[in-house]
Amino acid sequence: MRIVASLTVLAVAGGLASFGLRSESAGPQWQALRAQFSDQEWARLLRTADLPAPSDPTNKVFHDDAAFRLGRALFYEKRLSGNGELSCASCHDPARDWTDGKALAVGLEQVDKHTPSLWNSALNRWQFWDGRADSLWSQALQPIEHPKEMGGNREEVAELVLTDPDLRALYLEAFGPAPQELSATLTAERVFVQVGKALAAFEGRILTAATPFDQFVSGLQTGDPEDLAALDPLAIVGAKLFFGEAGCHLCHHGPLLSDMEFHDVELPREGAPEPARHAGVGRLLTDPFNGRGQHSDDVEAGRERLAYLNRTPHQRGEWKTPGLRNVARTAPYMHNGVYASLDEVLEHYSTLSDAPARSHTDAKRVLEAGQFDGSQLQALKAFLQSLSSPPPPSELLPPLDSDS
Ligand code: HEC
Ligand code: HEC
Repeated sequence: MRIVASLTVLAVAGGLASFGLRSESAGPQWQALRAQFSDQEWARLLRTADLPAPSDPTNKVFHDDAAFRLGRALFYEKRLSGNGELSCASCHDPARDWTDGKALAVGLEQVDKHTPSLWNSALNRWQFWDGRADSLWSQALQPIEHPKEMGGNREEVAELVLTDPDLRALYLEAFGPAPQELSATLTAERVFVQVGKALAAFEGRILTAATPFDQFVSGLQTGDPEDLAALDPLAIVGAKLFFGEAGCHLCHHGPLLSDMEFHDVELPREGAPEPARHAGVGRLLTDPFNGRGQHSDDVEAGRERLAYLNRTPHQRGEWKTPGLRNVARTAPYMHNGVYASLDEVLEHYSTLSDAPARSHTDAKRVLEAGQFDGSQLQALKAFLQSLSSPPPPSELLPPLDSDS
């Protein structure tokens, strides 16, 4: 009886109107699990279900198949780079879960950031560790011209796309003939933006499939004993910690296990915090390729998203909360690649022993050392490992005639 009552409350709170499970009809396995979690932990678990479908009104070809095909060719195209040797996939390698396995990225030179995985990046609210881009298409333009990453430029990229026979054919299918009436500079810029939008159409399909954890959550909803058995007991203990006592859910929640916000998790550092999100907001607002700029396909939508952005000093040292799907396969970790393994990450959250000294006036602190014992650390790790989905499908791998 108690269970039915609390489920009704949850159904209202979580908008789960279709939540049909009643304690009488659920099996003993479900009953035992239900008793293991508090109402809040249970609700947080259920809120991880159903990855939303990505969309981007500022990119009208986001869902277009021809743009996807062009984007796939471009993603693996090394001639976008200054030296002809680097493609997006050089750092975002599908065989390495769309990252590079390095602490810090290496393009033409070493970059001062760790390469994030592209799994589900289409569902990010903001792109980059400091959130300085508001769409996948505007994001994609930056690495191409970044002197330490690909070191290319828009004029040469436009020239390549409009003259190489294969790319030109794909381009024409996606966008039709390049505008004739524009100056060379404007044409290059227009085509460059279209390159970004096609890359975004490709990246929009890099979405994780269901994991053992998702199967388990589905079991919590339906009572299906097979689904409930998908998660091993240690990972269940880890999930309870993650969504309860350990407080991980404060920042890692919802289907992506990210709040899409920016925080300082007190990684080891020397000196003052970096500008981080503080600089990111500044760059986003002045980016000529942002969602309210002339290249956006929905300036109004772009304007709305940027309207409520504030720049405040406490954003210094704050980086984006990464989603945690496939996290077990994307070491090293953090914006600066400081931790080589999940064990090191968990050790940090457990002790904060490597955190910078705290000042008494630091009002924004959220983290407390979790003081996890050995079995809790193992449980949290088992939970994180249960978030691994199958490898990318072949439609996302390099086209057959590519050598990248
Ligand atoms: C030299 C390695 C390198 C290359 C080449 C590269 N990237 Fe990245 N990528 C990075 C790094 C490092 C970051 C994080 C940079 C930052 O946040 O300041 C990043 C960030 C991103 C993000 C943001 C993801 C997130 O979660 O915020 C996307 C999307 C992305 N890259 C796509 C691309 C595309 C598309 C290309 C090709 C046009 C590309 N990258 C080329 C290293 C690279
Ligand atoms: C205050 C918000 C907050 C809390 C609480 C929090 N995290 Fe994080 N987490 C973040 C942010 C922000 C980052 C990225 C930090 C950076 O790179 O500077 C991160 C990074 C991570 C990463 C690395 C992901 C990657 O791809 O690099 C893992 C794993 C992780 N957190 C797990 C946990 C676990 C487990 C807990 C609970 C013990 C937890 N987090 C608690 C905000 C939080």
